[in-house]
Amino acid sequence: MMTTDANLLDAGERVAMVSGASRGIGEAIARRLLGDGYRLSLGVRDVAATREKFPEDESRLIIERFDALEPCTADSWVSSTLDQFGALDALVNNAGIWKQVNFGSGSEQDLDDMWEVNVKAPFRLIRLALPHLKKCGTGRIVNIASTDGIRFRDTTCSIGYTMSKHALVAMSHAARHFGYDDGVRVTALCPGAVDTGMVDTVPGVTPLAERLQPATVAHVVATLLTLPNNASVAWMPLNTRLESTL
Ligand SMILES: NC(=O)c1ccc[n+]([C@@H]2O[C@H](COP(=O)([O-])OP(=O)(O)OC[C@H]3O[C@@H](n4cnc5c(N)ncnc54)[C@H](OP(=O)(O)O)[C@@H]3O)[C@@H](O)[C@H]2O)c1
Repeated sequence: MMTTDANLLDAGERVAMVSGASRGIGEAIARRLLGDGYRLSLGVRDVAATREKFPEDESRLIIERFDALEPCTADSWVSSTLDQFGALDALVNNAGIWKQVNFGSGSEQDLDDMWEVNVKAPFRLIRLALPHLKKCGTGRIVNIASTDGIRFRDTTCSIGYTMSKHALVAMSHAARHFGYDDGVRVTALCPGAVDTGMVDTVPGVTPLAERLQPATVAHVVATLLTLPNNASVAWMPLNTRLESTL
């Protein structure tokens, strides 16, 4: 029998972790999830500066130090979240960096930095969070990848960034397999250009007026987090321009 009930998950008291919530897309996601009623744990490099932006009571929102280049901060952030809230329902891997590395420019160090921040840090967080996400039966992971995670657009693009985001998409597929039987659903969200500081110097980027707003990306993340277990979204392009297949 058909029903009008979409079986959406209620944010209720669900607990979500968001990395890189100090600014840009991460800040927008945090604001949206807070408004939706989540209890939040934000992982940021500058706790004091982020606290000024999010003065909410600690019973609803904690801010912990998380630096993708310091592996031990992933452990301490996940531990503090569990100590404070006693459970974990969602992880949003948002923190990321862009550097121009192609066959003619950029350094090995730039390449390593993108691998650390865009790939290894989300891997670490998923590894730590997965057992807890499995426990709740409706765990969710959203990895903020990019359209650069699902195609190579043209020779103006950073090959290094594209490689790192493709790896993040691959990891998202793997995590979906590892958590599926316990109700964990994983999405690689792949936006085109978003109006944040990150893209100011990116060559070939969508013109400013046509870029996505961070709040639009946050709206999609919030929607993904509410979908029931039988509405799995493996990956989702969110493009600002017409391209063949995305
Ligand atoms: N903007 C776009 O067009 C676009 C498009 C597709 C995907 N994305 C992806 O969306 C995510 C957010 O990007 P954004 O546009 O919001 O960029 P942004 O405004 O530059 O913000 C980047 C965020 O990542 C954090 N971060 C950087 N290095 C870090 C580290 N070592 N450890 C922990 N956090 C670190 C930053 O923290 P600090 O404040 O401490 O620097 C900041 O919160 C990234 O993964 C990016 O690749 C962006």
